[in-house]
Amino acid sequence: MRWWHDLALACCEMHIPLEQASEYGFNKDEEGRWFKTSPRGDYTDVSVKQLEAEGRIHKTRTGSIRIKYFIPVVSGHLIVKDLIGNVWKDIPDMMYAPSEYLGYPTQKPLALLNRIIEASSKEGDVILDPFCGCGTATVAAQSLNRKWLGIDVTWLAIDLVEKRLLSAFKERVASRYEVRGRPVDMRSAKALADMSKKEFETWALTLVGAAPREHDNGVDGIFGFVDKDKKTQTIVVQIKGGENINPIIVRDLIGTVQNEGAAIGLLITLAKPSKGMLELAVHSPTYKSDVWGREFPSMQIRTIEELLAGKAFDLPPTQSPLRNAQVVKEAAEVKRLL
Ligand SMILES: C[S@@+](CC[C@H](N)C(=O)[O-])C[C@H]1O[C@@H](n2cnc3c(N)ncnc32)[C@H](O)[C@@H]1O
Repeated sequence: MRWWHDLALACCEMHIPLEQASEYGFNKDEEGRWFKTSPRGDYTDVSVKQLEAEGRIHKTRTGSIRIKYFIPVVSGHLIVKDLIGNVWKDIPDMMYAPSEYLGYPTQKPLALLNRIIEASSKEGDVILDPFCGCGTATVAAQSLNRKWLGIDVTWLAIDLVEKRLLSAFKERVASRYEVRGRPVDMRSAKALADMSKKEFETWALTLVGAAPREHDNGVDGIFGFVDKDKKTQTIVVQIKGGENINPIIVRDLIGTVQNEGAAIGLLITLAKPSKGMLELAVHSPTYKSDVWGREFPSMQIRTIEELLAGKAFDLPPTQSPLRNAQVVKEAAEVKRLL
């Protein structure tokens, strides 16, 4: 893993007068080049040979091998970029990056993925993250002008990666990627429901922008909208991927909306709802929104087929519990701005 040792990236810069260089532990070689060294680590014999040819091997008095890093000299000063070793303590964890946090439980800091990608690849290379989660590696790869492939087992992640890329890069990425495996019609939706009830539910929630709810008790997903006094009103969602659906499901969801103190309940079904189900929904009370100046049915039903055909629920503008990503500048643009 040679790249690991090439992580001589700058985290801070010091200017040391040449007359003080030895005090700081810097050495000068026979050719007058200033350098500092780090342990050989896991460089292979082949890599050491290559480094030797580049004049980058330093043999200590006891005969052990260390790797040389040459230090540039400008106007009588060593320009020292702090070398980053095997333990990276300079990148704060997500707790300290609230503006970056999207709500994905295992999200990693963008700075970490930027460093790994910069150290291990060059522009135009392909970055593969087969467990891409909320897509930190894909965002880093895109901003550093790499091509990328992201794979994840859950639709929650894929949907979020897509939203994150679009929100971070807007039209710069919009027509330049492809999502594979997402249901696009009834046949593929049924296939997903047959394969995994949970993933079908997660995918169906992405059709309305809701986030899954951990502890079910009659609610599969949740999101909301802002109404009077800037208060967030809750929308609860239930997904039914089976054939057996009946009015009891609607009655139960109306009860759940009331018990949860939610404003609106949405039922998404794979099968067509019966007349009795639709009647219950039509006769359910309405939610009156002061901010949006109108009433909304507090119980609504849509089939997957309707949602795929663009027949959306009748809702005020909604907010997902997962946050939008910050706009990310691509490397070339960042360079231009500096
Ligand atoms: C630790 S998270 C990745 C987090 C990511 N680095 C980020 O910053 O968001 C691991 C991801 O692997 C996914 N995963 C787990 N098993 C998988 C599998 N068999 N195939 C593909 N993805 C899988 C999970 O859904 C999860 O999103």
